[in-house]
Amino acid sequence: MSQAKHNAAHAAMELVEDGMTLGLGSGSTAEIFIELLSKQITQGVKLRGVPTSEATAACARKHGVPLIEPDKVDQIHLTVDGADEVDPQFNLIKGGGACLLREKIIAHASDRMAVIVDASKMKKDLGAFPLPVEIDPFGMALTAEKILLALQESKCAGTDTSLRQNKAGTGPLITDGGHYILDCHCEKIPDPVQTAHLLSQIPGVMEHGLFIGLASVIIVGADDHAKIMELKSA
Ligand code: 5RP
Repeated sequence: MSQAKHNAAHAAMELVEDGMTLGLGSGSTAEIFIELLSKQITQGVKLRGVPTSEATAACARKHGVPLIEPDKVDQIHLTVDGADEVDPQFNLIKGGGACLLREKIIAHASDRMAVIVDASKMKKDLGAFPLPVEIDPFGMALTAEKILLALQESKCAGTDTSLRQNKAGTGPLITDGGHYILDCHCEKIPDPVQTAHLLSQIPGVMEHGLFIGLASVIIVGADDHAKIMELKSA
């Protein structure tokens, strides 16, 4: 386990209060956070979580973190999730674990989103990490063509795309929602707001991995500490 990820997850515990309903992110850093939550629960702190993937739900069950279905909550106080890239405006690329649709639904429904990362995820510009776009299998080639045009129009440096394959190598990866992931090798996304807007207009795009204006806290873990950064509201 990376110490930097652990330190980020540990620092996020400062934001957790008794009685909270938490959005539980996906990925290795989010799973460390879930493990830490289970220790609080053992000590009597009342918490429950809304998972953002089947893998996260399984992890929460394993560690004894009570779960609630998204349709049964009236408030999600805080979501804590990882990210693949974070820019200085707190825009994110997410979806490296193919959970971006559920992650975004839960983050968007939360009062607050805190992101836990190690320093390697902090970038001046987004786009070196391939941008995941979750698409419906129906009419996939038509959708891919529109995505290409959106990347060109928003002046992304690279416009190559690849359909993500499953780990067994037997075909396309299928997300928890039954969709495919098209990874967009943008290299640099000069205007993430515009790219996000254009991708959102395409009917076959279920969701894209640009998280704009959702994160208000970024926690960057290092080997011996973690730095908590809060977005100053304008
Ligand atoms: C999953 C995600 C993850 O949060 C992201 O890929 C970071 O993962 P990790 O904490 O394992 O580095 O977006 O869809």
